[in-house]
Amino acid sequence: MGRFDGSVVMVTGSAQGIGAATVARFVSEGARVAAVDIDTAANESMAASVIGDNPGAEIATYSCDVADAEAQGEVFADVVRRWSRLDVLVTSAGIYVGGPLEEIPMDRWESIVAVNLTGVLVSNRMAAGPMKAQGSGAIVNIASMAAKTSWPESAEYSATKSGVVGITRSAAMELGPHGITVNALCPGNTLTAMVRKVATEIGGTLGMTGSEWLEMRAADTALGRLAEPWEMAGIIAFLASPDARYITGQAIEADGGLILS
Ligand SMILES: NC(=O)c1ccc[n+]([C@@H]2O[C@H](COP(=O)([O-])OP(=O)(O)OC[C@H]3O[C@@H](n4cnc5c(N)ncnc54)[C@H](O)[C@@H]3O)[C@@H](O)[C@H]2O)c1
Repeated sequence: MGRFDGSVVMVTGSAQGIGAATVARFVSEGARVAAVDIDTAANESMAASVIGDNPGAEIATYSCDVADAEAQGEVFADVVRRWSRLDVLVTSAGIYVGGPLEEIPMDRWESIVAVNLTGVLVSNRMAAGPMKAQGSGAIVNIASMAAKTSWPESAEYSATKSGVVGITRSAAMELGPHGITVNALCPGNTLTAMVRKVATEIGGTLGMTGSEWLEMRAADTALGRLAEPWEMAGIIAFLASPDARYITGQAIEADGGLILS
């Protein structure tokens, strides 16, 4: 028996990184998963690999830009048509951009807001209907440690991730009476393609290689290392599980003790 036997889980940003690890975790615990990503080829290959490891698993892949509210609406409608319910939503689709405050191009600001903030708002809004109808559900929004603390030259990213925590708190209050929990996970540096790109970019501005920057960040944590995507997936699965049914409206820090250190 898996914790999520018979459950229907939707994961956005499923093709790689934390989202892909989350799909694998829920599938391994018995869930049927709707995997939603803008990168169709990578998403299909993620699904084939997870099914290879879990023969008989049900994964439905969807090509969708989460910034497009209409497209997300079609995905949600299809998932509910296919499986008649939605138990868990995990919003992992996100992008990082950064740079000096005075040089932020307005179109770049608008594009990160569209993906990281509008995308999450729309996903939460769309999940509310089916979850309210069944009187249960769990939403886990992926924010960042950058939601609670900030660094220079990351105003755009920080602003969107703080906004995700705001959406989480308000949605938790609104949906709680319907038996639905809404929490945010605030990861620290997790070894994915995103963090490697960030390391190269920010390390470059500090005269470091990407690897040197990652080593510096690892040394800044109490645990002395960065996170693996599957470690985030484990926390996400816990927050979506019955063991966490009295936790809602929280922004859970999982940064290896970086902010403490
Ligand atoms: N890796 C980290 O250190 C870290 C730390 C804190 C927070 N986060 C957050 O965790 C989430 C996952 O990050 P990751 O490191 O796995 O990143 P990643 O870049 O490895 O994966 C992100 C996935 O989201 C998809 N995506 C991007 N834009 C999309 C869009 N418009 N519509 C649909 N899909 C889209 C990408 O195709 C990709 O598959 C993000 O929200 C990120 O901000 C990551």
